[in-house]
Amino acid sequence: MSILHYFRSKLSTLRNSTSHLLPIYTTSSSIISNTKIILRKPTTPRVLKTNNNIFVSFLSTTAKNDTERPFLLPKDVESYSESYTTPPNPYQESLSKKTKLAFPKEAHKMVPHLEATFLTFLARATRAKSILEIGCYTGYSTVALANGIRHRKHKGAKLTALDNDPVAVSLAKKHVELAGLSGIVEFKVGDAFDIIENYGSDLQFDMIFLDANKSGYLDYYNAIMDQDLLSKNGFIVADNVLFRGYVRAFSDPYVRFSDLYTKDGPVPPQHKNIARYMHRFNEAVQKDTRTDNVLLPIFDGLMLIWKRKSTPFDVVRAEKFLEERSELYR
Ligand SMILES: C[S@@+](CC[C@H](N)C(=O)[O-])C[C@H]1O[C@@H](n2cnc3c(N)ncnc32)[C@H](O)[C@@H]1O
Repeated sequence: MSILHYFRSKLSTLRNSTSHLLPIYTTSSSIISNTKIILRKPTTPRVLKTNNNIFVSFLSTTAKNDTERPFLLPKDVESYSESYTTPPNPYQESLSKKTKLAFPKEAHKMVPHLEATFLTFLARATRAKSILEIGCYTGYSTVALANGIRHRKHKGAKLTALDNDPVAVSLAKKHVELAGLSGIVEFKVGDAFDIIENYGSDLQFDMIFLDANKSGYLDYYNAIMDQDLLSKNGFIVADNVLFRGYVRAFSDPYVRFSDLYTKDGPVPPQHKNIARYMHRFNEAVQKDTRTDNVLLPIFDGLMLIWKRKSTPFDVVRAEKFLEERSELYR
């Protein structure tokens, strides 16, 4: 059954089951046929009564299947953004082609070019000198990050890239060399957690890009914070924290995981697990008083995390503010 048919059949069921006004939020019908959707499926009368509404909401990710990289933006908006972004350099182009040839079913693991360019910008704008990349794969993000710091090579700028896949890393190494970036980038092959665990607190990073196994995000984060691996102004960029938008199923009472559909049918259980890991990570970061963070709903969800700077002055000022405010309302 096509997604359009599925959608229509669901809508007619819903329409027949209630006399309430039905606000229906859709993207344009042209997008429906290639859009992954979340159908908020209030087939149980209980939900209908409490809500008085039926929501049919679309998540505009453009991935048609598992081997495509998801975006939370409609495909046409993504393409437009790409055409107004610095295009890939020849090394990035070659790397992307070689990755697709060598790993046809896994090439979607590479960060998309828009995101890669944003990483270049972040590294450059924050004047990062030391970067740690956890999960470099074939190096698309590595080249992007290294590009952001290459002008600071003479000041000792360095990127350490970790991955446990030696075949992918060999491709990454080759392109880093071709791009003239080998003086900046050091690769380490092995389990990223083992490598990080052995870092002493004398080693600190200005930027950490987290893009390895999703089940390990929270452990990586805790190791980074517990071992004080972030420099004074250092920050973490964690990728895929919205995981195709599925994380919503763990925090929104009106979305159940069983209600999530892709074009090819229900979302597979392994994706449920990844979404759960990402939600746990987001929750833990949000609760951690050592850091501040912002979850950007771009690409597949980017969480930016930096050390909280709470000076005694801030605390005193906040207390004074609360005191004054309580007097106002007395
Ligand atoms: C999404 S890919 C990284 C993509 C890369 N950042 C890019 O843009 O091309 C995730 C990578 O994490 C690596 N990985 C998974 N588990 C790991 C672990 N325990 N230690 C190190 N690397 C790991 C995988 O081999 C894979 O290459």
